[in-house]
Amino acid sequence: MFSNPNLPFTLFLHFTILITHQALSITTTQCHIDDENGLLAFKSGIIFDPSGMLNSWKPNTDCCKWDSVECSPDPNNKRVTGLYIYGRAPEGINILSGQISASLSRLKYLNSLLLKDLGNLTGPFPEFLFTLPNLSTISIPNSKLYGRIPKSIGNMTNLLTLDLSGNQFSGSMPSSLAKLARLRELYLSDNRLSGRVPLSFKRLKNLFVLNLSRNQFTGTIPDIFKEPMTILRFSNNKFTGKIPQSLLSVRAIVIDFGNNELTGEIPEFGWAFDWIRELNLSRNQFSGSVPEWYGTLSKISILDLSHNKLNGSFPEMNGVNTLDLSYNNFRFGSIPKWIGNTYMENLGMAKCGIKIKLNDWIPIANYKNIDLSENEITGNPLQLLNSKVSLEGFYASKNKLKFDMKHMKVGKNLKLLDLSNNMVFGIVPKAVSRLKELNVSYNHLCGKLPATKFLESAFLGNDCLCGAPLPPCKV
Ligand SMILES: *[C@@H]1O[C@H](CO)[C@@H](O)[C@H](O)[C@H]1NC(C)=O
Ligand SMILES: *[C@@H]1O[C@H](CO)[C@@H](O)[C@H](O)[C@H]1NC(C)=O
Ligand SMILES: *[C@@H]1O[C@H](CO)[C@@H](O)[C@H](O)[C@H]1NC(C)=O
Ligand SMILES: *[C@@H]1O[C@H](CO)[C@@H](O)[C@H](O)[C@H]1NC(C)=O
Ligand SMILES: *[C@@H]1O[C@H](CO)[C@@H](O)[C@H](O)[C@H]1NC(C)=O
Ligand SMILES: *[C@@H]1O[C@H](CO)[C@@H](O)[C@H](O)[C@H]1NC(C)=O
Ligand SMILES: *[C@@H]1O[C@H](CO)[C@@H](O)[C@H](O)[C@H]1NC(C)=O
Repeated sequence: MFSNPNLPFTLFLHFTILITHQALSITTTQCHIDDENGLLAFKSGIIFDPSGMLNSWKPNTDCCKWDSVECSPDPNNKRVTGLYIYGRAPEGINILSGQISASLSRLKYLNSLLLKDLGNLTGPFPEFLFTLPNLSTISIPNSKLYGRIPKSIGNMTNLLTLDLSGNQFSGSMPSSLAKLARLRELYLSDNRLSGRVPLSFKRLKNLFVLNLSRNQFTGTIPDIFKEPMTILRFSNNKFTGKIPQSLLSVRAIVIDFGNNELTGEIPEFGWAFDWIRELNLSRNQFSGSVPEWYGTLSKISILDLSHNKLNGSFPEMNGVNTLDLSYNNFRFGSIPKWIGNTYMENLGMAKCGIKIKLNDWIPIANYKNIDLSENEITGNPLQLLNSKVSLEGFYASKNKLKFDMKHMKVGKNLKLLDLSNNMVFGIVPKAVSRLKELNVSYNHLCGKLPATKFLESAFLGNDCLCGAPLPPCKV
């Protein structure tokens, strides 16, 4: 046997068969070597994975079976098409720390890259993504990416969704974003972006969600609006000027322009606004009166016009769930009758010049939150507080309420109660200890306080309250 001259050849044959066999088994049961290596390099860029989200990513196992990895179903070209890693950074769990490895560019067939809410991915925008022009989704919200959004983003013409919200991107938005002709959703909220919104955004003909909230954008809101734009969030920036004309003719569902420096009158939007569900124009400098026409909005659920300079009367709106008119120049005198007759959940009418006796206000709605602060309301809220078990928050500071607090029931859902700066008398009932927040300062309350966790400032300025957190009662 040892003298068999063919031995080396036989061995060689065996060997090649073995290799081919292995190679075959690689292509049929394992993922492509480039994908495996690209993913493993991504894993080694992660320096900290405390909840073990990438534990299943092991060399020489089929990467198509790893957690968060998706492959094309085609057995002849089994390639990684999606990477979907979902963390829960806002809850402080499932966090990944580290950098996004450029080796991910080996995943040539990648369509969707979702690295969501991972909390601690850092580094600049992952420019290697530009070598994957077929990507349709880049979604990396809520991490610590920083720097500018590169101009070349405009080359990713297959993008449908770009979500970079909740990072630390700064600088201006590149106008090349307008080249993303297929883009449907753009989320850049909660960054440090500044400058103007490019007028070229008008060219984004498939865009329907645009979320630019909580940045430092300046200038006017450009006249870029057209179908199919429906969800438009521009809140918490420094936009100035008037609402642009083009907005009045899109069938928007959400318009959130709160907390900017917008001026002018509240526009009469027109027929397209039959679709609107949420309109938030709060914390701007809108003036004039609210057009009667708002009463015709049939689908609106949230209308927040608080903290502006609006005046005049307000139209009847029957379907609205959340209405906030607080802190304007309204002088309503009374709470409009129709408000009491609707099924509203949240009502804000702070500083609206209301002069009613509260006992007489018996709304049918099962309110969750009512804010009537800073009016001239007299009487007592006992009927309201004792009958509306749904109530979670009741705010009525700076009024002229006068009642014996010992008759007040603390509803099982009530969490927040502010009766400060009124003329409430009697004792503070024990049941308030269940509340999350309480303020009864500056009233005429008296007697020993029940044991609570509230600060001293919640009880200051009364006639003769005593006991912790106030000084001890004299015996
Ligand atoms: C985030 O990552 C950095 C290193 O990039 C690390 O020092 C830090 O501890 C991480 N933070 C958390 C909350 O994991
Ligand atoms: C990218 O998309 C084009 C057109 O759909 C296709 O021909 C090409 O094979 C794709 N390339 C990759 C790497 O997926
Ligand atoms: C983007 O496209 C432009 C030309 O359209 C080209 O000059 C540039 O190099 C491209 N950028 C990248 C990163 O591919
Ligand atoms: C968009 O902006 C709002 C604030 O206007 C924010 O609360 C919301 O979470 C954002 N949505 C997404 C999906 O980023
Ligand atoms: C309206 O927008 C302001 C500013 O972003 C925000 O504080 C408020 O909660 C929003 N109102 C509603 C009802 O969501
Ligand atoms: C409302 O305010 C405008 C100025 O913003 C003023 O011209 C108008 O007279 C006011 N209307 C009422 C009814 O107070
Ligand atoms: C209670 O209201 C008073 C007066 O408005 C305020 O100064 C104080 O900070 C408030 N305390 C709490 C605990 O909210």
